[in-house]
Amino acid sequence: MNVTIKSPEEQDKMRTAGRLASNVLDMIGEHLQPGVSTDQLDQICHQYITEVQRAIPAPLNYRGFPKSICTSVNHVVCHGIPSDRILKNGDAINIDITVIKDGFHGDTSRMFFVGKPSVQAQRVADIAYEGMWLGIEQIAPGKRLGDIGYAVQQHVEKNRFSVVREYCGHGIGRTFHEDPQVLHYGRRGTGFELQEGMTLTVEPMVNVGKRHVKLLPDGWTVVTKDHKLSAQWEHTVLVTADGYEVLTLGAEQR
Ligand code: MF3
Ligand code: CO
Ligand code: CO
Repeated sequence: MNVTIKSPEEQDKMRTAGRLASNVLDMIGEHLQPGVSTDQLDQICHQYITEVQRAIPAPLNYRGFPKSICTSVNHVVCHGIPSDRILKNGDAINIDITVIKDGFHGDTSRMFFVGKPSVQAQRVADIAYEGMWLGIEQIAPGKRLGDIGYAVQQHVEKNRFSVVREYCGHGIGRTFHEDPQVLHYGRRGTGFELQEGMTLTVEPMVNVGKRHVKLLPDGWTVVTKDHKLSAQWEHTVLVTADGYEVLTLGAEQR
């Protein structure tokens, strides 16, 4: 495994990239109105990232991904491709933003609702959010990746939802997806040991129904096999001497 440790200067660049990524999500919130297409959301974010932030939208052309952001609506688990799909009242959408600034990546996603969500959409978004935070709270030097996975999984399954296994968090830095893989399930005290200066993402995907997923023929869009709802949140996190620092907090959390 090739895990990178960031120097204090590199940590500062990761802070900047993380803040920019979360700023995009802060900006896009007011645009989530009935009648907007996911392509329009992509265009607004692309313009903001490139022209206001002077940064690079990492998904664009990443392994052939055609757009600047991921938009995953309702039963789409992740990697939804922006399209002419029009959002309507009650839709739940994950918007996943990754920017590159000064050579470093910041990666974060949130759930948004168009109008009023169903009880179930609200609930799965809440459990995914709580699961992400319980995972993040495990992070400190000497803790292991299995501690993160266990914390997420036990919360999700206690609430009778399921954790997607095929996709996971990751190390992040000069490269979008670095080692190690950060699974959102696991056993306490197992797996790779965390060290000060590592940066990684925690980004659980939580399904209302079964955990199984299917990749659509476009080669990107991941959906639940049972077509029930899915939710995801993501933060980029730095391992500090005494715990963790979340690099992608939103304006209201700073
Ligand atoms: N941002 C996603 C992640 O959290 C990766 C998207 S890859 C893309 O790791 F190509 F679909 F953009
Ligand atoms: Co990520
Ligand atoms: Co992401």
